[in-house]
Amino acid sequence: MTLWGGRFDSPMSQALWDLSESFSFDRALYVHDIRGSLGHVEGLRAAGLLTDAEARILGETLEQVRREFDEGVFVPSASDEDIHMAIERRATEIAGPVGAKIHTARSRNDQVATTLRLFTRDALGALGARVLDLVDALIAVAARNADAYLPGYTHLQRAQPVLLSHHLYAHAWALLRDVDRLVDNRQRMNVSPLGAGAIAGTSLPIDPARTAQLLGFSEAFANSMDAVSDRDFVVETLFDVALLGVHLSRMGEELVLWTSAEFNFASLGDDYTTGSSMLPQKKNSDVAELARGKSGRLIGNLTGLLVTLKGLPLSYNRDLQEDKEPLFDSLRQVDRVLVALSGAYQSMTFHAARAATAADDDLLVAIDIAESLVQQGTPFRAAHERVGRAVGEAVRRGVSLASVVADSEDLAGYVGLFAPGHALNARRSPGASGPVAVAAQRTRLEERVREMRRRVES
Ligand code: ARG
Repeated sequence: MTLWGGRFDSPMSQALWDLSESFSFDRALYVHDIRGSLGHVEGLRAAGLLTDAEARILGETLEQVRREFDEGVFVPSASDEDIHMAIERRATEIAGPVGAKIHTARSRNDQVATTLRLFTRDALGALGARVLDLVDALIAVAARNADAYLPGYTHLQRAQPVLLSHHLYAHAWALLRDVDRLVDNRQRMNVSPLGAGAIAGTSLPIDPARTAQLLGFSEAFANSMDAVSDRDFVVETLFDVALLGVHLSRMGEELVLWTSAEFNFASLGDDYTTGSSMLPQKKNSDVAELARGKSGRLIGNLTGLLVTLKGLPLSYNRDLQEDKEPLFDSLRQVDRVLVALSGAYQSMTFHAARAATAADDDLLVAIDIAESLVQQGTPFRAAHERVGRAVGEAVRRGVSLASVVADSEDLAGYVGLFAPGHALNARRSPGASGPVAVAAQRTRLEERVREMRRRVES
């Protein structure tokens, strides 16, 4: 039995049912659907469409249905097309005739939009907190390896030495922008569609502003057609997650490189690596590869929904039901990546001696010699050219840059720049990679983390 039996002569075909049912996945929305319905019931009571006694019965009934879901004892009926119909069907079974009043002045179109906003609003907060946990893990790894440094790369060629903390903080800043986006999205999406009805509102005397307030929305919709058809908040969430996923993917790629024998800058704990079914020596960074691999489907979920939406005429269309699975999938997958990656970083051993040897590659001192010449008044282009010739000579002769510099007339005074760690310590400009600048950065970073935590929790 469907909820629209009145005008139909024959029941829905099995084929259409199989195509259109969504209970199998949208049951995940039960908490938020019931929360929305409780707000709606209170709105109906305030409008005089339910008596106080009816509203109380419906409230208690909805709480009971929620408990049945919580405890895993909710028994779906073959007619439960989606979570909204399942809850209404069960509420009517429990409450009798008064249950049939719950859908007064409401359509599943404004109901599902409300439910999904309530769900997404909570999910964005939870996701923001998870991202901050990963930021904390990065900061902890940096603190444990405070003196460690490594080559910084451009074009994946050694460029300049950087503190490990500077390198990890670079990821942290990107993640903090992700949190900023989540919080910003949560604020923009916090508009209640409840009361829009199927498309055009209702002739009944409801007050959408009141239910909006009851449900913790910052305002009610202004346009009923926009209210039932707007899924921008889902798209934005999928984008936020996709970009977060891209950041996680880049971190994953880096861990894959670092843990390879070729780099050997780090190893992950045994509990965060896998073996090979054939090769006994293998220790694989699958966690990092999956962090990288999952980003593909996160991007796919975003582009898939954008394509679903692009041709839709106003207002509600059943296509919109296709918003849920990508949303649930992206949230679930990115959550798993965040948790696993946090653990993987915590388990990481950084091979500081090996990384320092790579960073003390004397070619990386070339820029320091050039900058010293600049301090003596040489124009930078001329300094670059002069040191470039010294580098060319070293490479041609297969000797170290330090020896070429030591043997030269004009550069010999700069051999002290080749002392291990010197080039790193010299990077002092604001935001730079050396210890003095990084200490200042750390204060700024920790302040931003605290600010973001406050905003996520507010
Ligand atoms: N399960 C539907 C969805 O997710 C609920 C709304 C159905 N509305 C309708 N007019 N068929 O969008």
